[in-house]
Amino acid sequence: MISDTLPAPATSPGLPFGALATQPADALLGLIALHRADERPQKIDLGVGVFRDDAGTTPVLRAVKAAEAALLETQMTKAYLGAEGDATYAALLGGVLFGDRPADERLHGVQTPGGTGALRLGAELVARADRAARVWIGAPTWPNHAPIFAEAGLATRSHRFYDAATGGIDFDAMLADLTEARAGDILLLHGCCHNPTGAELTPAQWSAIAELCASRGLIPFIDLAYQGLGDGLAQDAAATRMMFAALPTALVAYSCDKNFGLYRERVGAFWALSANGAIAERVRTNILSLARSLWSMPPDHGAAIVRTILENAALRRDWQHELEAMRVRLNGLRTALAATHPRLSAIADQRGMFAMLPLTPASVATLREEHGIYMAANGRINIAGLRAETVPFFAHALRPHLDAESTTP
Ligand SMILES: Cc1ncc(COP(=O)(O)O)c(C=O)c1O
Repeated sequence: MISDTLPAPATSPGLPFGALATQPADALLGLIALHRADERPQKIDLGVGVFRDDAGTTPVLRAVKAAEAALLETQMTKAYLGAEGDATYAALLGGVLFGDRPADERLHGVQTPGGTGALRLGAELVARADRAARVWIGAPTWPNHAPIFAEAGLATRSHRFYDAATGGIDFDAMLADLTEARAGDILLLHGCCHNPTGAELTPAQWSAIAELCASRGLIPFIDLAYQGLGDGLAQDAAATRMMFAALPTALVAYSCDKNFGLYRERVGAFWALSANGAIAERVRTNILSLARSLWSMPPDHGAAIVRTILENAALRRDWQHELEAMRVRLNGLRTALAATHPRLSAIADQRGMFAMLPLTPASVATLREEHGIYMAANGRINIAGLRAETVPFFAHALRPHLDAESTTP
């Protein structure tokens, strides 16, 4: 009998978990539940961060379906792969990211469970190498960034980034804040399609950041979760390629979950560029030992799909067409929305899935209650939640709030 072998109850039955504080629920999950319960047919969900097509669905890509069918036929084993995952996947994806960069013993990449896994792996690598390193993160950012680094034991610092008054970047303020950064600190950067603002650094600003990193000994950690959803595959990787060409040490966390539509399959990768080959080899062994203790090895299916697509010319072409259609749709909606009110004009110049509307939390609540329009309390919208025919309805509902709130929240 199992119960006979159980130890007697502890004298303090609340310990150890009674000491835990209750954690706040994810605000976006609450929004999903509210949207689901809303019976108004014209309701619009701009909260959840997945791509939607013009029918409002998040379909499995054609290229993904074809790759899955091929895998079903050809995959002969599910045996373990190892902590670095699928090396062919990482090499092929490295080509998509780094273009024709020559082979380099200083650069090492591994498969990870999504972009989140890549960020966490990088955070653990930094923490193992230098616990005193601080991680500089622009405000606002993807809400998971700071917790990922903090859970790895690193201190985080916030620097100014988005200028709500212009919908662009307050670059002078960013540089001013970064004068506090010390050699060895990490500078987290969105490679393209900034989440949540859509605000893009210009090539000249990226060059200035590269110079800053070089002169101050800062290490860029680029989060590239939306390659191809901004201006194109090569264009969206240009900043990362430049930083990796200009600096001795750099990190990148990559997600295939948006640009291949593989969200729940958890497909990502992490690359580290080291100062020389000997250090790169030490980094490689540390990445593998960290991955081993974090997840032992990453899940295979999504990465096998990406590998199958990238190694087949026809599937790769089809994926690129589908990705282009996603990008064209996002940028078309951006242009349409920007034209509806002068205070939204910057949305046309921004890129990616997200934008921050200049709304107070009270206006966000009113839009939800009166019009069935759902967005995050800070005014972040998922552009792909709109459809060409819902833009006028949305703009009409927004107008009084944009007119009334002449100062940004
Ligand atoms: C900026 C940014 N980085 C990383 C991620 C994580 O991506 P994944 O779902 O592949 O873990 C996201 C997801 O929303 C994101 O927006």
